[in-house]
Amino acid sequence: MPDFVLRIGGSVLASPINPRLITGYSRVLRRLASEGFRILVVTGGGELARRLIGYARSMGMPVDSQDRVAIQASRVVAQLLAEALKPVAPSEVPYRIGRLPRLLERFKVVVMGGLRPGMTTDTVAVLAALKLGFPLLIKATDRDGVYDKDPSIYPDASKIDSMDFDRLMDMFGRIHYKAGLKSIIDPKAARLIARHRIKTVVLNGFKPENIELAVKGHKVGTIIHG
Ligand code: UTP
Repeated sequence: MPDFVLRIGGSVLASPINPRLITGYSRVLRRLASEGFRILVVTGGGELARRLIGYARSMGMPVDSQDRVAIQASRVVAQLLAEALKPVAPSEVPYRIGRLPRLLERFKVVVMGGLRPGMTTDTVAVLAALKLGFPLLIKATDRDGVYDKDPSIYPDASKIDSMDFDRLMDMFGRIHYKAGLKSIIDPKAARLIARHRIKTVVLNGFKPENIELAVKGHKVGTIIHG
C-alpha cells in the first residue's frame, strides 16, 4: 500500500475557501485511511495568501515578511481540513517536517501548510516526501494536469498524459522564485522531484475522487516518472 503526500493547491481549496470541497476531501481521505494508506496532506493558501502578500507589499515589507503572512494563510486552510478529518487526523498542524514521523505513527492522516519563507507548499510537500520516504506525490491543481503550453492563453494547448523528469526540468525547473509565484509546480520543487526521481501525479483537484483513482494506479492527470 503506497503511502503518499497529497499537495492540494490553494487555487483549489481556498480561492475562495470551499467548505463543501474540504468536506469532500475529508470523505475520500478517511476512506483511504481505512484501507491502510498513510497520507500527509499539504495545503496552500490560495487567494487569501495572495491577498495578504499584497497587503504586506503595499506596506513596504520585504519578501520574507510577505512570505510569513502567506504561510499563515496556508495553515488556516490546513487547520480546516484537519478538523474535518478528526479523529483520523490530529488537530495539530505541524510547523516542522521533523515532527511528521512521530505524528504519522499515531494518525493515518496529517495535514500541514507552509514551512518557511522562500518556497511554496510544493517544496514543503517534496521535502516531506523525502523525509518520510513516501514514494508518491500527488499535486491537486485547478487544471486537468500539465499542458504543453498555458491553456488559459493558448486554446490549442494539449494535456500531457505522461512525462519524464528531464521534461519536468525543462518546463518548470528554470523559473525564478518570487512571493506568490503561480506555476503548476514551483521551480524548487520541480528540481527536487527530478533529482530524487519522485513519482508525481498532477491532477484536477476539484474532484477529490481523482486522488483515489491515482493511488490505485488508474490513468488520471499527468504522471511524471522516470
Ligand atoms: P502556496 O504554496 O500556499 O500556493 O504559496 P497556493 O495558493 O497553493 O498556489 P497554487 O494553488 O499551487 O497555485 C503561496 C505563497 O506563500 C508563501 C510564498 O510566498 C508562496 O508563493 N509560502 C508558502 C512560503 O513562503 N513558504 C511556504 O512554505 C509556503
